[in-house]
Amino acid sequence: MSYSFSDELKSTAADIEAALAQLLDVMALAGPGLPPDRLISAMRHGSLNGGKRLRPLLVRQAAGVFGVPAADTVTAGLAIELIHCYSLVHDDLPAMDDDDLRRGQPTVHKAYDDATAILAGDALLTHAFGLLASEAAHPDAAVRIRLVAELAAGAGAGGMVGGQMRDIEGETSFLTERAIAQMQAMKTGALIRAAVRMGAIIGGASDEQLAQLTTYAEAAGRAFQLADDILDVTATPEALGKATGKDANAGKQTIVARIGVSAARQELAEVIHDALSALIPFDERANGLRETAKFFADREH
Ligand code: IPE
Ligand code: IPE
Ligand code: MG
Ligand code: MG
Ligand code: MG
Repeated sequence: MSYSFSDELKSTAADIEAALAQLLDVMALAGPGLPPDRLISAMRHGSLNGGKRLRPLLVRQAAGVFGVPAADTVTAGLAIELIHCYSLVHDDLPAMDDDDLRRGQPTVHKAYDDATAILAGDALLTHAFGLLASEAAHPDAAVRIRLVAELAAGAGAGGMVGGQMRDIEGETSFLTERAIAQMQAMKTGALIRAAVRMGAIIGGASDEQLAQLTTYAEAAGRAFQLADDILDVTATPEALGKATGKDANAGKQTIVARIGVSAARQELAEVIHDALSALIPFDERANGLRETAKFFADREH
């Protein structure tokens, strides 16, 4: 049977949606005490709402390069998706981007309140690392530790969170084009890079293979945010499930704001070329990663 990207995208999203629905449950999240219903409900609102699940897809595809079955990547995929969902819940808060719509429904702070959205994000973040500690993530504890370190590096102060700080700073101070690219490599690129590297680690990649896949991931991450910024200008809120035109309104510095949509589209094509070039050493088992890079550029939502 020939490979179909749209089938893989759909089946990954379905696997992740179903696993999240089971996971975000009072008994499954019980600690020394039972989690409050309101918190669980806000966590579900921020996670079970039709995200594209592209980061779990990348974990699956990168591991697939080494022949790992999709089912063995679900726990790591869930962990990174929980971090991504938390990042969106916090990104939408009034103190950050102040958005009311996400994935076609009210943002968590709109549906609940700011404090609940902050706490739901905190709980999603924390559970991600709990999941990676479980044997389901990988049978070998040494591999699990590498996955934890990888996700922490991608999500933390030198990764997504640091990028979000730079994004906010950029609302009030000038960024060069290079500084915009660095900010985007952190706020968005770092989790995409972590997803690919986590998959490669599960697959037992050599150092050289890991470096090559990292080059792919960094280009793909750049493409992803370029497309996000282009769509903010060119798409409709209905298609995107979130408000558009908000970057310019918020005074966000983006590559699109700096060079315009058509130059940004050109740059996007070049970056995709870089991503695909990094995959030259890999056989047809990297076709999923190849299709995903193209999807990042062509996506309409
Ligand atoms: C949106 O990410 C936020 C950015 C990092 C640009 P996605 O476009 O992957 O969002 P969902 O998960 O599919 O909603
Ligand atoms: C969000 O970037 C990046 C993270 C959440 C880390 P944006 O602020 O551009 O994402 P959207 O457009 O709100 O989805
Ligand atoms: Mg933002
Ligand atoms: Mg935002
Ligand atoms: Mg955006």
